[in-house]
Amino acid sequence: MTKIGVFDSGFGGLTVLKALLELVPDAEYLYFGDTARLPYGSKSVETVAKYACEAARFLEQQGAELLVIACNTATALAFEQIRQTASVKVVGVIEPGAQQAVAVSSIKKVVVIGTEATISSHAYRNALAKHQVESREKACPLLVPLVEEGWTDHAVTQQVAGIYLAEAFADGFSSADVLLLGCTHYPLLKPVLQRVAPKSVTLVDSAESTALTVSNLLGKKSENAGRFGEATHQHPHDDHGKIKFFVTDSAQKFQRLGKLFLGRPMTDVTHIELKE
Ligand code: DGL
Repeated sequence: MTKIGVFDSGFGGLTVLKALLELVPDAEYLYFGDTARLPYGSKSVETVAKYACEAARFLEQQGAELLVIACNTATALAFEQIRQTASVKVVGVIEPGAQQAVAVSSIKKVVVIGTEATISSHAYRNALAKHQVESREKACPLLVPLVEEGWTDHAVTQQVAGIYLAEAFADGFSSADVLLLGCTHYPLLKPVLQRVAPKSVTLVDSAESTALTVSNLLGKKSENAGRFGEATHQHPHDDHGKIKFFVTDSAQKFQRLGKLFLGRPMTDVTHIELKE
């Protein structure tokens, strides 16, 4: 069984793990959430790169044979550094998300939302531009704390999301036909985002696109096409010994909040201190 290391700044990467468990259920997972140092989305390139490389080294020491950088901010700011530090294959979330958006957009105009750091890096804009797709990038810094408050379907969240999207889908971008979710937390806001986005807009979830990329990489292409939502029903919560979680802040807090992201309880959670 392939051991896949999944790295995130904290809880949000669990949306990527959830998608991976659906498409690649027959792997072992090591999930590292840097909960003591989150959020990454407001930090500098230097800091995020240093944290991300430490996490990647840790996951490799635990035996990861493939690394998935689930955090959009870490991928946007430090993908190259992580790739150079790691001696195993590294998959980030930006390329898969961008490629899916390219495939889905018929008018080649995409709105991307993410953290302040992801948006200022222009990682998504650059990835989309390679395929002649124009993008409008919009930082939505209030959405991560709202999700972590559990307000995924709250009137306040809908109002905030509505303001952000109205600003993004303006001027030359009112006809954009894809909303690319460039942050780990946004899959939890899909119903709200779909309600406030213009009617004809399709949501592209970089968590799902990344899981599909990993699945293809491991040669599961034909087996898994279109399988989202199936596998968890086939093996309900059959995680015993299959997923190990490592966090840098309280394990209890991770278990409490993490359930919201993963949609199932987490048993094997260990608190660790990373050596600098
Ligand atoms: N995981 C981060 C991302 O996807 C969001 C949370 C944070 O800022 O640390 O960009």
